Amino acid sequence: MPAAVLVGAQWGDEGKGKATDLLGGDVDYVVRYQGGNNAGHTVVIGDQKYALHLLPTGILSPEVVPVIGNGVVIDPGVLLSEIDGLAARGISAERLLISSNAHLIMPHHKALDKVTERYLGKARIGTTGRGIGPAYGDKIARMGVRVQDLLDPGILAKKIEVALTEKNQVLTKVYNRRGIEPAAVLEEYLAYAERLKPHIADTSLVLSKALDEGKFVLLEGGQGTLLDIDHGTYPFVTSSSPTAGGACAGAGIPPNRLTKIIGILKAYTTRVGSGPFPTELTDEMGEWLRQTGGEYGVTTGRNRRCGWFDAVIARYATRINGVTDYFLTKLDVLSGLESIPVCVAYEVDGVRHDEIPMTQTDFHHAKPIYEELPGWQDDITGAKSFEDLPRNAQAYVRALEEMSGAPISAIGVGPGRDQTLVIRSLV
Ligand code: IMP
Repeated sequence: MPAAVLVGAQWGDEGKGKATDLLGGDVDYVVRYQGGNNAGHTVVIGDQKYALHLLPTGILSPEVVPVIGNGVVIDPGVLLSEIDGLAARGISAERLLISSNAHLIMPHHKALDKVTERYLGKARIGTTGRGIGPAYGDKIARMGVRVQDLLDPGILAKKIEVALTEKNQVLTKVYNRRGIEPAAVLEEYLAYAERLKPHIADTSLVLSKALDEGKFVLLEGGQGTLLDIDHGTYPFVTSSSPTAGGACAGAGIPPNRLTKIIGILKAYTTRVGSGPFPTELTDEMGEWLRQTGGEYGVTTGRNRRCGWFDAVIARYATRINGVTDYFLTKLDVLSGLESIPVCVAYEVDGVRHDEIPMTQTDFHHAKPIYEELPGWQDDITGAKSFEDLPRNAQAYVRALEEMSGAPISAIGVGPGRDQTLVIRSLV
């Protein structure tokens, strides 16, 4: 039975929460497969707005089992406060399952994320400062602390001791910071263990059985394709694999279980943090997009950098992820423009590039080649079907579909649950 992946096609913040929510009714399990509380999903239900960072969006639907997969890095304090925040609004996290193989973000990861960024100065990545990179670094270096270590206080104590013996040297001697006391960390994490224990599971096995039983599993990526550690704009990326390939590794599901790869594509482009962004608008038009689209980060509150739609990026996302369907979000934000530029290729030192240039240096020098598409004046937030859209809005969607190389199957025309036009089923 189907396992579908939801993946951001740009630099994250494409509006994945809305897509997950749209599928909600059909889905039995929603799995986060990478990233951590660097992500931010906003879901609007009625007059209620929910900002989720670590919890899968499925937490909001009582009939869905939300799963935090092995590929995620978990800050247990943040997870518990997110759970408590929802409980205060009457939403239970009792069904939540957490992979025993997921890694934990430790206090030294957060400390190191902040000091290394400071040391990088102008070359900084602009991380969210949540300890994501250092936690993944330790995972790869085989020095990480995993969720299952919470179940064995002896092992947990040893792992904290070993990690801090090294990390305290770095914190104190390289960065001139105070060391972290292992006993205090152990006490803090043992308290988390008490509360998290009932949720810890072999989630790969749970999901495999669920698929055998014909259940629908939705794999929900954080961030986006261009922030992927391998396929993104390295080094200005996150430290995990949001792309569809990463979904299998991060959830413990084999690739031949995947039936749909749903790319989330914003009708324009945004990016948070540093790094190349060919269609970025640094003028009043960029400010207009930011204000009209409400482009302020859910996680850090930082202004998002804004620019026109980039078809080169979209084509790349289609190819890297094997996108079967696109969910185009925030089309309504573009209403009222006379004409809308869309980047169809780049020019680098006088040479046209139809694909992302091979080297970081060339990508930094890429200048967008624009095609102008006619805009529309009508408010489209009340549209109920594709046919309700003004002719030019329909043409804009069709042009993006053509340029991206995958069908646009759903369109977001506003933040509400009912403001989605479904062209064909995403299931
Ligand atoms: P980190 O994931 O905190 O290490 O940050 C690395 C880069 O990814 C920075 O440019 C962040 O702004 C960006 N980033 C991380 N999470 C998100 C997200 O959910 N949306 C958009 N950008 C993100």
